[in-house]
Amino acid sequence: MTEKRDMADSPDSASNQMWGGRFADGPSAIMREINASIPFDKVMWRQDIRASKAHARMLGETGIISAADCNTILGGLDKVAEEYEREGVPEDWDLEDIHMTVEARLTELIGPVAGRLHTARSRNDQVATDFRLWVGDAMSAAQSAITRLQMALVNRAGEHADSIMPGFTHLQTAQPVTLGHHLMAYYEMFRRDASRLSAAMGNLSQCPLGSAALAGTGFPIDREMTAKELGFAHGPTRNSLDAVSDRDFALDYLFFSSQCAIHLSRLAEEMIIWASQPYGFVRMPDSLSTGSSIMPQKKNPDAAELVRGHTGRIIGAATALMVTMKGLPLAYSKDMQDDKPPVFEVAGLLELCLAAMTGMIADCTFNTERMRQAAELGYATATDLADWLVVKADIPFREAHHITGAAVKLAEQRGCALDELPLADLQSIDGRIDERVFTALSVDASVAARASYGGTAPEQVRNQVKRAREELGMD
Ligand code: ARG
Repeated sequence: MTEKRDMADSPDSASNQMWGGRFADGPSAIMREINASIPFDKVMWRQDIRASKAHARMLGETGIISAADCNTILGGLDKVAEEYEREGVPEDWDLEDIHMTVEARLTELIGPVAGRLHTARSRNDQVATDFRLWVGDAMSAAQSAITRLQMALVNRAGEHADSIMPGFTHLQTAQPVTLGHHLMAYYEMFRRDASRLSAAMGNLSQCPLGSAALAGTGFPIDREMTAKELGFAHGPTRNSLDAVSDRDFALDYLFFSSQCAIHLSRLAEEMIIWASQPYGFVRMPDSLSTGSSIMPQKKNPDAAELVRGHTGRIIGAATALMVTMKGLPLAYSKDMQDDKPPVFEVAGLLELCLAAMTGMIADCTFNTERMRQAAELGYATATDLADWLVVKADIPFREAHHITGAAVKLAEQRGCALDELPLADLQSIDGRIDERVFTALSVDASVAARASYGGTAPEQVRNQVKRAREELGMD
């Protein structure tokens, strides 16, 4: 906090220098505090100056302001940018937000000509433009971070296309799969996130600048020019009322982030389970673990747990903005100022979560011996016995399922694996079983048999890895 609230909520005597023309008194301390967005929206200063420069250039080009004034304003904005780069952005609640903070400093530097910059513009289209630029940058950063995570997954999956582990349903051993297959499942999730992000980036790419307060402007502006200069691929927005009150792009970013975080959280959860002693499937990198202050043997998967935890905050932020937006009439309402904290928070959290999971996947040590042993327990090849009965003995699957169930029960009583049951015992359950069955009951045979498209057979996993490497341009 840069200033203290007074005991008494008394109005400040000076009215606001930007919009105070019709006010006798200035805002109270409470009003100044509740109104100020500068504490958080100052992170958009680069976008604000970029958009102002595009607007000034357009005003100059169209003759709405003189070329000389345009140049003075552009030079002044560059000076403000240099200052902020060096010293940071000052926080003065009286200046409310980043837009008025920049303009006030510009006025100090170049004098009254700075007042011409706001011609044919309102803070409503200004903030919509700045925020779109900021969210667009956050989306690009997320795109690269997802690619890095996908590369880590693909590399590890390639190493482990043949490594056998138990596949689970209900977290109960189901059928053997390969570790490479499991990792490539996450690759697919992040591929969908990347494509959701591309769609969001496409929708974001229309420029609201020139919509002014809500109704457009009477000045002969060139909206195509500013849209182009600011890199909005789909030109200017098409309806000024929508443009100043639309925050779909921010919601799209939060929806994407929530979905991506859900995927990260599931991966984190698996790593936490796999790193526990009873599983012992993975050793977390030291660099992403912590110790316990009381139990010297402990190595805790805190980074993974925090990814799981941060996902709750990310989903909460998406919910917050949906609730903010749901009751707003057209066009701008000040509630919309609350669009930024959730987005800024999510950008930081998502970047951290993506980086943490990328490091974890790249640097963890998989205990493939342990995974294979676990796959050999739990009757993971029971389905293979049933399938064998269908194929080799022409038994309907439902009946084969029943026979296999009896075999599992017997093995359980004997405390042995399915392929450790003597042939005579198997034959006592069903006479149609012969010695060829044993070739089907190993975990290797089980995995190799699942060679359907997208299946877990090592050759299929290698195909997935190859295609993914091509998609990512890794070779
Ligand atoms: N700080 C405001 C925001 O973030 C800028 C727009 C203010 N517009 C207005 N008409 N008061 O939403």
